Amino acid sequence: MERVEDIRTELLSRDWEALTAQEAIAWGHERFGAQMVFASSFSLEDVLLIDMACAAGLQPHVFYLDTGVLFAETYELIDRVSERYHIEMERVLPALTLEEQAIAHGEKLWLREPDRCCGIRKVEPLRRYLCAHDAWVTGIHRDQSPTRANAPRVAFDDSFGLVKLNPIVDWTMEDVRNYVAEHDVPYNPMHDRGYPSIGCMPCTRAVKAGEDPRAGRWAGFQKTECGLHSR
Ligand code: ADX
Ligand code: SF4
Repeated sequence: MERVEDIRTELLSRDWEALTAQEAIAWGHERFGAQMVFASSFSLEDVLLIDMACAAGLQPHVFYLDTGVLFAETYELIDRVSERYHIEMERVLPALTLEEQAIAHGEKLWLREPDRCCGIRKVEPLRRYLCAHDAWVTGIHRDQSPTRANAPRVAFDDSFGLVKLNPIVDWTMEDVRNYVAEHDVPYNPMHDRGYPSIGCMPCTRAVKAGEDPRAGRWAGFQKTECGLHSR
């Protein structure tokens, strides 16, 4: 990778807000080529970005953090996305299997220490994976949560030491739903059953009408983020 200071200067010299999502992806592709990777939890946003990249004729390099406790519906969606877009997606695994984690830290760590569990099953594998790349693309947008309200479209990610692109950062949830409907983007059927935000099985529940869409993530804990996104 080039010198971080050079990249920072380059990033600061441009008005990223003026770019569309498609333009941001195209820039990333031109600038980083295969060194740019798409992080996917197979949310509406993530599959939409894959759709957008494929529609532009790019072969997105997609990876997912497989915690081992994703929903069956998510695993099925992975197969559907792969077939629809003719892409192989990279499965990134934690260093510890679920059995090894249970031996080292006790059964059902997520019930007692979700931060530690996310650290082992998501953050450490992500760090290890991103170390070998120059840029990553995520599906976050500002209206998802107060912690994401100031997220930039493109910036240097100090937590993981590479460039981070959030192409749809200024989109609303309605923009996302409209794109998915218009382009017939494959999505998780659980979204139609009261699950707006889907993560791991033990830490995701359905939300009731009028509840915050992220209320179903780590319900009962103060936790609202798993540590992948610091800003
Ligand atoms: S989280 O921090 O609460 O888990 P969220 O589910 O909103 O994050 O997802 C935000 C973005 O993080 C997604 O659009 C995707 O880019 C990335 N992401 C989340 N979970 C994963 C995962 N399991 N594998 C790869 N990327 C993920
Ligand atoms: Fe563990 Fe829950 Fe975090 Fe998944 S979301 S890694 S099960 S604490």
